[in-house]
Amino acid sequence: MTAIRYELIKTCKQTGARLGRVHTPHGSFETPIFMPVGTLATVKTMTPEELKAINAEIILSNTYHLWLRPGEDIVQEAGGLHQFMNWDRPILTDSGGFQVFSLSDLREIEEKGVHFRNHISGEKLFLTPEKATQIQNALGSDIMMAFDECPPFPAEHKYMKDSVERTSRWAERCLAAHQRPEDQGLFGIVQGGEYKDLRKQSAQDLTSLDFPGYAIGGLSVGEPKEIMNEMVEYTTQFLPTDKPRYLMGVGSADSLIDGAIRGIDMFDCVLPTRIARNGTLMTSQGRLVVRNAKFARDFSPLDPNCDCYTCKNYTRAYIRHLIKTDEILGLRLTTYHNLYFLLNLMEQVREAIKADRLGDFREEFFENYGFNKP
Ligand code: GUN
Ligand code: ZN
Repeated sequence: MTAIRYELIKTCKQTGARLGRVHTPHGSFETPIFMPVGTLATVKTMTPEELKAINAEIILSNTYHLWLRPGEDIVQEAGGLHQFMNWDRPILTDSGGFQVFSLSDLREIEEKGVHFRNHISGEKLFLTPEKATQIQNALGSDIMMAFDECPPFPAEHKYMKDSVERTSRWAERCLAAHQRPEDQGLFGIVQGGEYKDLRKQSAQDLTSLDFPGYAIGGLSVGEPKEIMNEMVEYTTQFLPTDKPRYLMGVGSADSLIDGAIRGIDMFDCVLPTRIARNGTLMTSQGRLVVRNAKFARDFSPLDPNCDCYTCKNYTRAYIRHLIKTDEILGLRLTTYHNLYFLLNLMEQVREAIKADRLGDFREEFFENYGFNKP
């Protein structure tokens, strides 16, 4: 028995996008899907009941953060991450690879692992593929990620080639260290930056190890959007069609649609929740910065086309007031709306695939949304 099974339901005749279903030990979810981020075992401001009310089917959490606080031993003692945080649907945990690189300035990579400093206490730490795997086994997530290096953009070809080859060796070590393959699926992560030859090499290395799913990493790290789309499009041809494909760290509305069109099944990003907390909303007409003075007397909803709890009950003027006065309810209402907006967008993407009209849907959406807005 493998923990994770992917079922391809159909492909969109207009675009080739995939409609599928991923089966996990905590139930299944339809793809393409967006996974809200709950870094510290909480999707900031949202209770699990609220997440369910907006149809969140799977959430993401972070190995690195839970290792530091409260420690994976405490989560394990609680009965695992699902029990600890009262979330009974699927959970994916990222391996810490990315967080080590994005949160720590002092780091040193060697074959065995990465030395770096705790971003809170400054204490020296060492993370290895084995340790990242052991922590994720203790957390008990449904989908675990291999420990990888996510190099910056741009990086030289020589650096990237060494990094890709090391990430492949690390992936093999993660597989060897994995103690719970019967109830936790471990995904490999394709790297290679903007270099097609290295994307191909990375994809071929990883697929030869036969993971139950594959992520495309090292994108949305500052490169132009065209490069990201090109790399996704190029890489998927080397991935098996009977396994899920996850594009890491991507969460703007346009990129979700463009990723789905290129055959991506899963996405995650802190973007919708992070920008919500500073008063930026994703709406059917594009970005809305509710702190703006022009909304002081605007008694209409954040998005007139949105059916969420926030939009049905509160005005821009009221939410602007809450955000400007740092009231907790402001953070809750804006987070609720942004997550509802993206989850609803993915629902519409799945409906469009079913109707073989994702290309048309993209055109209609972009028309209202304006280009290059989140
Ligand atoms: N999140 C966003 N990008 C990446 C990546 O390249 N690797 C990992 N582990 N997590 C990510
Ligand atoms: Zn809304």
